[in-house]
Amino acid sequence: MNYRILGCTNLRVSELCLGAMTFRWTSTEDEAYQVMDAAFAAGINFFDTADVYSRWAPGNPGGVAEEIIGAWLKRRGIPRDQIILATKVRGRMWDGPDGEGLSRAHILRAVEDSLRRMQIEYIDLYQSHAPDENTPQAETLRVFDDLIKQGKARFIGCSNFNATQLREALDTSAQIQLARYDTLQPHYNLIWRGEFENELQAVCARENIGVIPYSPLQGGFLTGKYKRGQPIPAKARGANNDRIKQWLHDERALHLLDALQPVSAQRGESMTTTALAWMLTNPVVSSAIIGANNVAQLNESLAAAGKTLRAAEKELLDSVSEWS
Ligand SMILES: NC(=O)c1ccc[n+]([C@@H]2O[C@H](COP(=O)([O-])OP(=O)(O)OC[C@H]3O[C@@H](n4cnc5c(N)ncnc54)[C@H](OP(=O)(O)O)[C@@H]3O)[C@@H](O)[C@H]2O)c1
Repeated sequence: MNYRILGCTNLRVSELCLGAMTFRWTSTEDEAYQVMDAAFAAGINFFDTADVYSRWAPGNPGGVAEEIIGAWLKRRGIPRDQIILATKVRGRMWDGPDGEGLSRAHILRAVEDSLRRMQIEYIDLYQSHAPDENTPQAETLRVFDDLIKQGKARFIGCSNFNATQLREALDTSAQIQLARYDTLQPHYNLIWRGEFENELQAVCARENIGVIPYSPLQGGFLTGKYKRGQPIPAKARGANNDRIKQWLHDERALHLLDALQPVSAQRGESMTTTALAWMLTNPVVSSAIIGANNVAQLNESLAAAGKTLRAAEKELLDSVSEWS
């Protein structure tokens, strides 16, 4: 496993980060334990979750992914300083006006809930899950700054911010001397490039913001399991995902898969591994947040650790995905 410094923080994170969104959604608790065991054994020291994971799954109240991680850390006796834990706040967690968002009232209760569920004293990276148009950024940054001073969070980051929102947040932190967002968690992968590459990438490079893209396999689309003219495999996430369903009828998306397949075959690896190697070739990326329902899936992603693409491979994949 390779490790990269996360932006301006002094954290050395594995270049693959394990995402917990699938825990008790598309994977069982047992599978989550097996995946965490295998990831940690392979050198992954960086886990990403959110308080809302996975509230949308039938029977889940939200917070279950944090609980599973906390129980796993305790049961395995993993020293707190051996793992870098990132979680997020913003989604609805309880009823009422303060039950969601990035207001002081929401964050102050949500952080205590996250700490309790993960059975920890501090969060390494506490992230705004998405912008909150109803709360001034100064209010959010002020409460995050307080949490850092109180030792409840070490660093803060944001996710799903556009370049204007990120710049405004950075300016606000600088103007009123508050902690700044040191990381960005964007939606970014081979078939979803523009949103990050067009503007955000330059801001992150200039400001030395750690970049931790989510869904680097686009929820499984880039693994090769979805094929032209063939039904969606049973139980695959794509069965309930409109974007994946659409791409199965989109010539550009299928053309990208057609190009990815021979590149990976020539490299002697799976499409999953090559799609992640494409991501890790971008020097602005600190760590790619992968998802895996089981150890077999995880192993294909782990095979990308330490890998990058040759210039000709990258040029080819960049050119066929230029529209994305
Ligand atoms: N900030 C945000 O708004 C946000 C949003 C989304 C995710 N995230 C973070 O990013 C993490 C990863 O997201 P993601 O799960 O969408 O990542 P992903 O790596 O793009 O997709 C993972 C999914 O792809 C499929 N898959 C993975 N490896 C495979 C393989 N070798 N063969 C076949 N299928 C395979 C599995 O789905 P199936 O088997 O079910 O098809 C798996 O659950 C999340 O856990 C979360 O921490 C953040």
